[in-house]
Amino acid sequence: MKFFLDTASLREIEEAASWGVLAGVTTNPTLYAREGGSLAEFHGHIKRICDVCDGPVSAETVGLRRDEIVREGEDLAAIAPNVVVKVPVMPEGLAATKTLAAKGIDVNMTLCFTVPQALMAARAGARYVSPFIGRFDDISEDGLEHLGNMVTAISNYDFGHPVEVIAASIRHNGHVVEAALMGADIATVPFAVLEKLVKHPLTDRGLEAFLADWEKVKNA
Ligand code: E4P
Repeated sequence: MKFFLDTASLREIEEAASWGVLAGVTTNPTLYAREGGSLAEFHGHIKRICDVCDGPVSAETVGLRRDEIVREGEDLAAIAPNVVVKVPVMPEGLAATKTLAAKGIDVNMTLCFTVPQALMAARAGARYVSPFIGRFDDISEDGLEHLGNMVTAISNYDFGHPVEVIAASIRHNGHVVEAALMGADIATVPFAVLEKLVKHPLTDRGLEAFLADWEKVKNA
């Protein structure tokens, strides 16, 4: 499984990239607003992210009509070769995805909550399909069970083009572990989760022991 960072923070993206684990980035309007982003700076900000991360960088469209989504998507795709256009699963979004895919533009279909949505996204030409886990958990449903069903359904078929499942809306380490065991291709995680994923108390304790013993070696 590959790790994407679910953020619009350049500082977080630079840090994750420096660890050598950053395979891509996903952004959305909420994450960009959290960075204090303005409309005028949006394309410039996506460009700066693409300069740091050479993997796929998802930038979301906000139009509700297919022609608007296609226009926005073309503008976003022109920012950098690694931009992936993020489009919500809905009839107009599917139609726009079909058009964008036919133009050779990679699309990440987002806000996927059901198996039929995931299958239709892939059929419409989406390169990435993003099932949301945490938002199910927020309403006391098992987001991981839904993710597992979507991973299985996508892996059952040949769509004539590569389709990767991005486990999204991740809240904690357990989501990432289960997503990997279920065979999700990618997990897109907030930076706070990525930091926790690399840590384990036994690693910390082992390191303390090594350092203490090395002091003994140095003083011998
Ligand atoms: C990523 O592509 C999604 O937009 C993101 O994971 C959604 O996460 P949230 O449910 O925490 O807003």
